[in-house]
Amino acid sequence: MKLAIIGTGYVGLVTGTCFAEVGHHVICVDNDAAKVKTLQAGGIPIYEPGLEDLVKKNVASGHLKFTASTAEGVEKSDVIFIAVPTPPQPDGSVDLSYIERVARDIAAAMTSYKIVVDKSTVPVKTGEKVAETIKRYCAAKVEFDVVSNPEFLREGFAVGDLMNPDRVVIGVRSQRPVAAMTEIYTPFKAPIIVTDINSAELIKHAANSFLALKISYINAIATICEAAGANVQEVAHGIGLDERIGRRFLNAGIGFGGSCFPKDLSAFIKISEQVGYEFKLLKEVQHINAGQMERFLKKITDTLWVLKDKKIGVLGLAFKQNTDDVRSSPAIDLCQRLLKDGATLRVHDPKAMDKAKALLPNVTYVDDMNAVADGCDALVVATEWDEFKQLDLARAKKGLTHPIMFDGRNLFDPAEMEKLGWIYKSVGR
Ligand code: UGA
Repeated sequence: MKLAIIGTGYVGLVTGTCFAEVGHHVICVDNDAAKVKTLQAGGIPIYEPGLEDLVKKNVASGHLKFTASTAEGVEKSDVIFIAVPTPPQPDGSVDLSYIERVARDIAAAMTSYKIVVDKSTVPVKTGEKVAETIKRYCAAKVEFDVVSNPEFLREGFAVGDLMNPDRVVIGVRSQRPVAAMTEIYTPFKAPIIVTDINSAELIKHAANSFLALKISYINAIATICEAAGANVQEVAHGIGLDERIGRRFLNAGIGFGGSCFPKDLSAFIKISEQVGYEFKLLKEVQHINAGQMERFLKKITDTLWVLKDKKIGVLGLAFKQNTDDVRSSPAIDLCQRLLKDGATLRVHDPKAMDKAKALLPNVTYVDDMNAVADGCDALVVATEWDEFKQLDLARAKKGLTHPIMFDGRNLFDPAEMEKLGWIYKSVGR
């Protein structure tokens, strides 16, 4: 199939690359000419495991191309995917101006039947608006179909998630685009669910909100575990083995972050309000998430007392492991709060240090994770990177003035840490 992807962010670039990998001919479009040049030269603007090799391979085979011209993408493709940002506005609603702009650009360039697919996360009923806009701005008055096809990939695991999806959701107004959409996704060997457009749009917000709810649920359980002297990891294991509940997304910590969950929760609460339903459950999910950070900070101040003039080592800046993304990262929030209280910080992250520099200009960046605690009063774990589990604990302990660790991601075993002489505080244990 001949496909265009408008927007080469996380979703657009990975989607375009994986479509090329299974044999489609893909043109990725971005209005940032510098980014397009970087991509054409083989450079990848984000860190995503496995992506760079796949981009290089598909550029070399001619299946993957990049351009700054939407008109070129539209002209050379049968199906056009929209994967541009849908950022939050101050009141929690979604800024749809990029989507609207792209809909107009596509409309202006259309001279024959096209399928226009929305992949960005959008409020329910956006598909209707996109269809109206294309109809209004299409001078050639050609036929077209609008499809909703939400993306469920996780950053850090994006290539794997895209190549092996749990399901593919296709929201349509008529049967006409179904065959082409099915052909695009057949190589991925996943169940394909065909719905109406509104349902497809809702599936995305409902899925992300449910996952966020699951994390807040286990974080609330963690608070009870701490008060009652239980271990949240054992509770999570015990409930998670019930297949109806499932073990995944039951890791307690300092709360969820990133560019999706916080934004999508606010948007879904707003959307619900607009259709006349107050989604109090999701408001509580937000409330628990914010409280999680407060409780963790209290643990630090209960132990270290005054933070002014204290030196703290921090492991982790990304919003989760396997990514360099620091947008809405709980780890960055934590660092900013510690700095505000007068602490000085030595920080390390395997991939996110460059991107963190704009948000945390006044901290010391340490390349070696084992050296991050040197000369510090305490060590904090803020991101769940697997490699932090390999920390040289004896080396870190020697570097600290006191062997104190606040583990916001439960990476170490409390009994083991105590045996090694650490004052060790984690979450819900
Ligand atoms: C999330 C969804 O998982 C994807 O399915 C969805 O496609 C994506 O949003 C999106 O809407 O684009 P992502 O934001 O990449 O993916 O990250 P997650 O792996 O879901 O993690 C989100 C946050 O939850 C992280 O801060 C992570 O540390 C936290 N988390 C996750 C926990 O605190 N506990 C857990 O058990 C799992």
